[in-house]
Amino acid sequence: MSTILVPLPGNVPLAEALAGHMRAEVAHVRFHHFPDGETYVRFETDVAGRTVWLVCTLDRPDPKFVSLMITAETAKDLGAARVGLTAPYLAYMRQDTRFRPGEAVSSAYFASVLSCIVDALVTVDPHLHRRSSLDDIYRIPTAIVHAAPIVADWIRREIPIPLLVGPDAESEQWVAEVASLANAPHIVLEKVRRGDRDVEVSVPDVERWSGHTPVLVDDIVSTACTMIETVGHLRRAGMPSPICVAVHAIFAGDAYAQLEAAGARGIVSCNTIPHPSNALDLTGSIATELRELEWSAASCCPPETRHGRGTHQGSTGNG
Ligand code: R5P
Repeated sequence: MSTILVPLPGNVPLAEALAGHMRAEVAHVRFHHFPDGETYVRFETDVAGRTVWLVCTLDRPDPKFVSLMITAETAKDLGAARVGLTAPYLAYMRQDTRFRPGEAVSSAYFASVLSCIVDALVTVDPHLHRRSSLDDIYRIPTAIVHAAPIVADWIRREIPIPLLVGPDAESEQWVAEVASLANAPHIVLEKVRRGDRDVEVSVPDVERWSGHTPVLVDDIVSTACTMIETVGHLRRAGMPSPICVAVHAIFAGDAYAQLEAAGARGIVSCNTIPHPSNALDLTGSIATELRELEWSAASCCPPETRHGRGTHQGSTGNG
């Protein structure tokens, strides 16, 4: 059963890189927005009987979600044998509990809906904090690519005497693994977040690390407030300008410029979200997981609703 990659808008370079590693085909799919804002999707490559991997990283997820849903359903309707999703950045993982009464636990709801849409999921370092596994919320087979080996290789090659710094307890899992693979010391700070852009990080005791280059490592950089706050503390403590390494470079608004202005010596990220800071290529590791994933479960949509919904010649749809 041959595999085909189906890029959603904005994901063609990623799909082509994955296809190169997998020696797989990239499908041609036409996307259009009707004047009323609704989405039109047309497959120009036959997917009947094939294993389909949708390629769609899920930063800024809300505008992407309807296209993703319609594309997945179309692939099933056109007879794809199975339809998985690779989303190198997996959205909605941070709202994983009800912090205040009445709040949505979005990570669970998002997982529930995505589990209905696709048959499998491959992602990179999802923000698992209060949950230990994607299986807690996803009802489909999932596989996780870990960025740590590639981040550690880069640090070993580029930074002579590194001290790895995790800005908060949540980053410990990534920082500790990267530090161990890079054979470097690490420290983890304490963070209190009071709002989207109101973050306080503990003053680190860094005297014993003079002579080291601090390398901040975090999974997600969104507003960059966490990194900016940490860079400021390290600079005031007399450390050299830090290097900032992110797995997922969201960089909302002017966050990137602000982090540079705060005194980061270099900003490096993995290519899970296209960004000028992408220096670490994970496509080889993602392709390996796509090839190796054990497909065992079908999505929750009953198979009889999947195929043969009919074609009406001569219509362009949308009423
Ligand atoms: C949260 O614990 C994450 O690991 C990151 O520290 C956080 O998402 C960074 O967000 P921001 O860039 O908005 O401070």
